[in-house]
Amino acid sequence: WVLIVDFGSQVTQLIARRVREAGVYSEIVPFDKAEAVLAAATPKAIILSGGPASVHETGTPRAPDAIFAAGVPVLGICYGEQAMVAALGGQVEAGHEREFGRAELEVVADTALFDGVFAEGERAQVWMSHGDRVTALPDGFRAVGVSTGAPFAAIADDTRKLYGVQFHPEVVHTPKGAAIIETFVRKIGGCHGDWSMAQFREAEVQRIRSQVGSGRVVCGLSGGVDSSVAALLIHEAIGDQLTCIFVDHGLLRKDEAKQVVELFRGHYNIPLVHVDASERFLRALDGISDPEAKRKIIGRLFIEVFEEESEKLEDAQFLAQGTLYPDVIESVSATGGPSVTIKSHHNVGGLPETMKLKLVEPLRMLFKDEVRELGRELGLPETFVGRHPFPGPGLAIRIPGEITQEKLEILRAADAIYLEEIRNAGLYDTIWQAFAVLLPVRTVGVMGDARTYDFVCALRAVTSTDGMTADYFDFSHDFLGRTATRIINEVRGINRVVYDITSKPPGTIEWE
Ligand code: XMP
Repeated sequence: WVLIVDFGSQVTQLIARRVREAGVYSEIVPFDKAEAVLAAATPKAIILSGGPASVHETGTPRAPDAIFAAGVPVLGICYGEQAMVAALGGQVEAGHEREFGRAELEVVADTALFDGVFAEGERAQVWMSHGDRVTALPDGFRAVGVSTGAPFAAIADDTRKLYGVQFHPEVVHTPKGAAIIETFVRKIGGCHGDWSMAQFREAEVQRIRSQVGSGRVVCGLSGGVDSSVAALLIHEAIGDQLTCIFVDHGLLRKDEAKQVVELFRGHYNIPLVHVDASERFLRALDGISDPEAKRKIIGRLFIEVFEEESEKLEDAQFLAQGTLYPDVIESVSATGGPSVTIKSHHNVGGLPETMKLKLVEPLRMLFKDEVRELGRELGLPETFVGRHPFPGPGLAIRIPGEITQEKLEILRAADAIYLEEIRNAGLYDTIWQAFAVLLPVRTVGVMGDARTYDFVCALRAVTSTDGMTADYFDFSHDFLGRTATRIINEVRGINRVVYDITSKPPGTIEWE
């Protein structure tokens, strides 16, 4: 296994991800815990992450001596390189030219670190983000790569197997970065590369057991992929010490609540409390049309209901959440500087700290696609694993204007037809998200010989890789025509269908 020592970079988890992709198990520890970890166990290799501090300032994080005393290969990345250089007797100074973003690395010497990745003399794109730089190397090191802003962009001591790179090999903007990390952990570190999601599952099950002991865990289940996978994994670890609470806010899609209950209570036999709070939510939303007000009401009420239910389970000490790594990064950067709130996302996973329960977050290390892989590994049906994302406030933000029971039913019916057509056309998996929106607009139509005056339904479908940017999906006119006809014929209350061809930006995926 590989130890990743964290100096506070925003992208430390990406190092872990790249190591996992190389088939090697890794653990991340904060820099000030590294010594204790190394006293108890010896990894095959150590990676030092980047970080926001400056090593030439006092009081900033240092690399403990234990790291270099362990006698295993070490790779320092960015701040990690500087911390290694400082610890071993070299020099780090504030850079004259700061380098941020794309840069060119020139490979000036061969080294085991670049074995099979770069040849001497090669120039390669790398991603830099540093103000300080190494200016003098410790004994035994030589420069193997240079860039405009960093004379020691890559350094190596092949005898002691100590390496440093000023650039970030863990990000995708360093195209050969993953190969460098793989070379380091496998060829230099001698790790086998046979680690898999099956082993993650096993290790995580052990970790949950030792964290929870004989305690009781409550888990908020939403029917989405993340909370489903978290619940299954925890259930595998501790069986009926887990109770799931499914707060049904009445804003779910057609048959969704039923499917969740059938799968978890019926099929998996997981203790599940199904709270039908739909009337309470609808009452609270009565007359509300502002999107942010809707989100706040739903978020607050969700927590209220969840707390009421979990208090009934008197001896619960732990709260399970399906927090993913991107949630962790976003919540860190959210406090790191001013940013404009476009939408105050209410996420059903986001429960308050005031609950005084200890958190169990088995997916904290994983990215969405890895969670899906773990879900498959756990035998979760494909219809759950491959689901499109669905917002916490549900259909409330797909009905611009006031929400009523009648509108919810109309929207559910139209949405179900749309998704059925998408599935029948074999398009579901190529689309990131598809849904119907019920507009608060009535228009005139003619059906048979009669005049109609009904709602407009907008259809939305986008492609995306992360939800941050998106393109509208290019359906055939044939598909759109067929779907519109079905919706108008089968759903009472809709007499006109339009297709939304806005990208994000400038639009957003949801209409509210
Ligand atoms: P937007 O509409 O901001 O959506 O382009 C990006 C992604 O976030 C989802 N979304 C939400 N998810 N609570 C959530 O849990 C929310 O309030 C919320 N608003 C938008 C949206 O469905 C898309 O996947």
